[in-house]
Amino acid sequence: MAGAAVTLIRPMVAGDIAAALEIERETYPQPWTEGVFSDELGRDDRIYLAAEEGGRLVGYAGLMVIGDEAHVTTLTVAPWARGARIGTRLMLALARRAREAGARALTLEVRVSNVAAQALYRRFGMAPVGVRKRYYRDEDALIMWAHDIDGDDYARRLAEIEESL
Ligand SMILES: CC(C)(COP(=O)(O)OP(=O)(O)OC[C@H]1O[C@@H](n2cnc3c(N)ncnc32)[C@H](O)[C@@H]1OP(=O)(O)O)[C@@H](O)C(=O)NCCC(=O)NCCS
Repeated sequence: MAGAAVTLIRPMVAGDIAAALEIERETYPQPWTEGVFSDELGRDDRIYLAAEEGGRLVGYAGLMVIGDEAHVTTLTVAPWARGARIGTRLMLALARRAREAGARALTLEVRVSNVAAQALYRRFGMAPVGVRKRYYRDEDALIMWAHDIDGDDYARRLAEIEESL
């Protein structure tokens, strides 16, 4: 029977790397390599999540937790799967994992031209606080932060996002 695809969010594992490399190559001018993924997945202070539909990797997201700050290292949805709230689901799970890890703030860099991602991040309470010049080889990065993510207001924000899915 036809129906909406069920999206499973689970920890990313080494077995996801091959599919992730394909998505990287189709997405970024400087894609992460197998070495970068293996290194990231092996670090204790990182949290990586995968989104899977029908056994197929459709996206992934990562977090580096340092003290009470959680830095989003990547949020990527396969080109063919975009616009179906998978990015929002991954970010929701990431924000919750950040809270569980004791983080009080979320931060990330995003290309100044990437208005789609910026819109998603704003929904998660992230606001632009500055620009990192030439952060990417060819473009500046907007630095975004969300504070007090450990509080009840933020928990309510996440619950509202979940209800809207
Ligand atoms: C950014 C990205 C992760 C979003 O994932 P997604 O699953 O397509 O996003 P969602 O369906 O959850 O959309 C969430 C919100 O993002 C915004 N958005 C998504 N696609 C958009 C588009 N093409 N144009 C404008 N806004 C868009 C909207 O605000 C949307 O909210 P809405 O559904 O209420 O309108 C995905 O587009 C992607 O992988 N892009 C390439 C990699 C990238 O730029 N990653 C971020 C690096 S910092």
